[in-house]
Amino acid sequence: MPPSSPPSSASAPASHHLRLWWRRRGRAGAAGATFAVALLAAALLLTLSYYASAPLASDSSAAGGRSPALVGLTLVRRAQEKGALCLDGSVPGYHLRRGFGSGSESWLIHLEGGGWCRNLKSCASRQRSILGSSRYMERQVEFTGILSNDKSQNPDFYNWNKVKIRYCDGASFSGNVKDELQNGTRFFFRGQRIWEAVMNELVFKGLRNAKQAFLTGCSAGGLATYIHCDAFHALLPKDSRVKCLADGGFFLDVEDISGKRTMQSFYSDVVRLQHLGEQFSHCNSNLEPGQCFFPREVVKHIVTPVFILNPAYDAWQVQHALAPEASDPQHSWLDCRLDIAKCSSEQLEILQGFRKELHDAISEVKQKRDWGFYINSCFVHCQSLNSLTWHSPTSPRVNNKSIAEAVGDWFFDRREVKEIDCEYPCNPTCHNLVFTRPFKI
Ligand SMILES: *[C@@H]1O[C@H](CO)[C@@H](O)[C@H](O)[C@H]1NC(C)=O
Ligand SMILES: *[C@@H]1O[C@H](CO)[C@@H](O)[C@H](O)[C@H]1NC(C)=O
Repeated sequence: MPPSSPPSSASAPASHHLRLWWRRRGRAGAAGATFAVALLAAALLLTLSYYASAPLASDSSAAGGRSPALVGLTLVRRAQEKGALCLDGSVPGYHLRRGFGSGSESWLIHLEGGGWCRNLKSCASRQRSILGSSRYMERQVEFTGILSNDKSQNPDFYNWNKVKIRYCDGASFSGNVKDELQNGTRFFFRGQRIWEAVMNELVFKGLRNAKQAFLTGCSAGGLATYIHCDAFHALLPKDSRVKCLADGGFFLDVEDISGKRTMQSFYSDVVRLQHLGEQFSHCNSNLEPGQCFFPREVVKHIVTPVFILNPAYDAWQVQHALAPEASDPQHSWLDCRLDIAKCSSEQLEILQGFRKELHDAISEVKQKRDWGFYINSCFVHCQSLNSLTWHSPTSPRVNNKSIAEAVGDWFFDRREVKEIDCEYPCNPTCHNLVFTRPFKI
């Protein structure tokens, strides 16, 4: 059984309609302006690619005087012979937009997110969606936030070559299972080969000569960023500047509100299903299979500089790791998991405990001098792909720095960036999400 989402949502139908409201809190913590955004895009929210099609994102591009730039899908060449295939056996893809001017020898790669599938049933439903098959993927997507080519939205990376790699393997670009038949049905668990095939293609398209390169990703793609950061570094010239940014990808091995290790059992299923234990050298007999997949373990072995961007009250994790529906039979968390402003004081105390667990986990990397982090106290999930949260006059700030400014300062060594925000509800600049239904897994 999926950890928490209602059975009807486990299959994530792409036509699913979703509404969510952005709420900016006023100075005193009272509700500020409330924007209603009806999103008709795929409800595959973890990808957060939906922000790109949200009216708000378009409005902000329009305000910048540019029409939103659409970037076409490129299907990987010779994917079949490389065995680099999406869950359903279709050819994987990516969107590439060339850089210009002083950015033409710099590359920013973004790994799309979108949760994971833990068993054949949930992977089968992915095979019929954009998260498991390129047959369903949009042929063009909008590039916003860190992918934007508008200097006012994306001051440091706007003119770089940019690539968004589509996620269709169900296990953070990590599986490499040879056998295609699983209980008589064809499933391709080939995320590692997809990663390699796309990188191979990009190397030939200019990545091999990059002077600067930045591997980024959000949610399950943020986890993939931790997993592949050093391999990415190894592809680039020795004298190039190479760093990684994981956005909303620091998933914690916490006890949920009923004392169960929901995330660990979820990850354990993913690791077993896609034989990830064989993929990760850090995954040995001292670790439970599920533990191998947590960033806390993965980051111990990374040598490339990484920036950890994460909200302290990650909305996906609150909904699926901390207060999953299956652990809340009385539905006492129903309102709180949709809107942090509706949490009781007892629930807030539990959220503060969750924040502390994140801080404790991150403190292990504090001694890594060239790493950076930005942990704001917002109730949100990914923040680098949306121009409103990445960089705008009203974007969230910590020490008066937007996320884009902090990440840019760190990438270019303009200063050390280790930002930890004060406790909720202290930060009036947060864009806290308000949901009508939880994120999909
Ligand atoms: C395959 O089917 C068998 C028998 O129905 C079941 O026990 C096993 O768990 C299934 N394997 C997977 C990976 O779902
Ligand atoms: C915050 O930053 C903005 C622009 O980045 C600047 O104009 C403003 O003066 C700063 N405010 C404070 C209090 O430093």
